[in-house]
Amino acid sequence: MNRLECIKSMVSKCSVVADIGTDHGYVAEMLLKDSICQKVIATDLNEGPLSRAVEHLTSIDLADKCNFRLGSGLTVLNEGEADAVIIAGMGGELISDIIETSKNIAIHTKELILQPMTTADKLRRYLFKNNFKILDENIVKEFHHYYFVIKAVPGTVEKDDEFYYEFSKILIEKKETLMHEYMNKALNINENIIRNLEKNNNSDYNKKIEALINKNKRIRELMKN
Ligand SMILES: C[S@@+](CC[C@H](N)C(=O)[O-])C[C@H]1O[C@@H](n2cnc3c(N)ncnc32)[C@H](O)[C@@H]1O
Repeated sequence: MNRLECIKSMVSKCSVVADIGTDHGYVAEMLLKDSICQKVIATDLNEGPLSRAVEHLTSIDLADKCNFRLGSGLTVLNEGEADAVIIAGMGGELISDIIETSKNIAIHTKELILQPMTTADKLRRYLFKNNFKILDENIVKEFHHYYFVIKAVPGTVEKDDEFYYEFSKILIEKKETLMHEYMNKALNINENIIRNLEKNNNSDYNKKIEALINKNKRIRELMKN
């Protein structure tokens, strides 16, 4: 499954989906073609991408099922207007900022489908600290990059554990092969860092080395299960 298919597969059947940062409108196209929803509010901050979405969705006769809006994040939505909100293809911090700026809209949405291109850990941290519960998560790999797709809902969260910001608890519990691969890669990266820091023979790095050794120990334990 590719990144966009994975995003689509995580949206529950509903009436209205808002695709924030729609660009070409490919996600909107997939949702409508598969009848996941009846209407898509396709939004973008920039005129160029939004025009591309209008052009593309018009060319495949789906524009009448779309409502196109120019503007930032969730500010272009009214409370409760969309059943699901997709924010995909942006950095984890930008996604967090978009939610934070319009929390009233986010908490009146049944589900948020979030796909950070970078810093998924920062997004998970934001969700944990702001009472959004992660219900499900998937991992896909494209061009040697691992991407996470997160389904979150407003709600009380369990006691958090910083380790799981970086390594999704849900994906570990699902025993996803790609997650195993991702953890193995992190393990190797950490080992290289440890080796380089040890070569420096500088006591300033001792705490960092110890933290990385402990992290790797935990990764190995979880990979064994
Ligand atoms: C890399 S594209 C991702 C397109 C598509 N969502 C995907 O996942 O493939 C990012 C899009 O987000 C838009 N964007 C960036 N910041 C935004 C914001 N604050 N609100 C809405 N759209 C934004 C950009 O203009 C761009 O079209």
